[in-house]
Amino acid sequence: MDHFELKDGSLFAEDVPVAEIATAVGTPVYIYSLATLERHARVFREALSVLPRIKLAYAVKSNPNLAVLRALARQGYGADVVSEGELHRALAAGIPAGEIVFSGVGKTRRELSVAVASRIGQFNLESEEEGVELSQIAAEMGRRAPCALRVNPDVDAGTHAKISTGKAENKFGVAYDRAEDIYARLATLPGLDMRGLAVHIGSQISDLEPSRRAFTKMGDLMRRLRARGLSVTNMDLGGGLGVPYKQGEVLPGPDAYAAMVHDVTQDWDATIMFEPGRVITGNSGVLVTEVVRVKEGVTHPWVVVDAAMNDLARPALYDAWHDFAAVRPNGRTITANIVGPICESADTFAMARTIDEVKAGDLAVFRTAGAYGATMANTYNSRALVPEAMVNGDKWAIVANRIEPETIHHAERVPGWLK
Ligand code: LLP
Repeated sequence: MDHFELKDGSLFAEDVPVAEIATAVGTPVYIYSLATLERHARVFREALSVLPRIKLAYAVKSNPNLAVLRALARQGYGADVVSEGELHRALAAGIPAGEIVFSGVGKTRRELSVAVASRIGQFNLESEEEGVELSQIAAEMGRRAPCALRVNPDVDAGTHAKISTGKAENKFGVAYDRAEDIYARLATLPGLDMRGLAVHIGSQISDLEPSRRAFTKMGDLMRRLRARGLSVTNMDLGGGLGVPYKQGEVLPGPDAYAAMVHDVTQDWDATIMFEPGRVITGNSGVLVTEVVRVKEGVTHPWVVVDAAMNDLARPALYDAWHDFAAVRPNGRTITANIVGPICESADTFAMARTIDEVKAGDLAVFRTAGAYGATMANTYNSRALVPEAMVNGDKWAIVANRIEPETIHHAERVPGWLK
């Protein structure tokens, strides 16, 4: 469910014509719908409210735009951050430090220190080594850092290999069989307040059974730790719930997910944390593009658009599907390949797909681009960094300027010895 709909034959974002923003800002441009964002935030929270004690930490990585973070802060969401940059964004958006959890296998000494100084709510330790380092840092600063140990449950989430994180061969967390001893050791160190466990098995999860298996294993581990007299009050179950990318596709939604979690965790007596990303932001955004030209092909025409893999990397990286729709559909369809202008064949959005008929100069959107869209953009082929706009009812605003190639070009230097 989103607020991008046809009205009188033309695509609107809430009450604003998509074409109005495209004309004012230029293309490609991301458009986010505040009403959609707020709706998803509310639906997720309401679904999880069947559990007695929850904490919601929005996964900043899915869309770190400040306006998006501010909208979620207003909904009472905390933040799951993975870098100093994301930490600063979350704080700048008004998310209280105590509601911020820091994940990631490669937190640097500097990042750990900054996060301790900021008094964040939780460190999700991904290794014993990281715990030892944080213990030293926090103890030197006279602090006790609240920590959870991230465990790798060796469960296959059944998602794309590049976004699967819970198998033994993935780099995340500590091995399940070692977790008990590592937790016990870290609990003895100064500067650490070991209070729980964390798990995250992957992203775009479309089957709840792997999550059920992983959470069940985490519950068993929690009970074993408690039996050893160790305190476990917080259980972080990560993010990962998938969203439909194809029209008509049906995935388990927040209610089914909440029912599964409730079933597994009913006797846990712990605060349960979630780190949703895509399920909040995915459907809240579209990428607007203009058709540059339609080029004759061998089997199908090539629809060459002005957005490319640098603006929306997901199809090139994960063979991801994003629905494509004309902003002013004429009712006819064609079967075509949709590609960007970048000089490599990975710059392909779709092959042999039946789409709205489009011609040069027409506007179109890639849907469900609010998560892992603009945030993964880059400037390959010396293209601009894509701008972002947000709609709120009949109002809209630019929430990220286009960074022109000249700005990047001017940041570069030719050393004197090359002149
Ligand atoms: N928590 C942790 C520790 C994570 O690593 C992630 C995502 C999340 C939460 C949020 O997951 P979500 O609810 O959004 O599925 N670029 C890829 C997705 C990478 C996800 C990385 N980790 C894509 O475009 O599909």
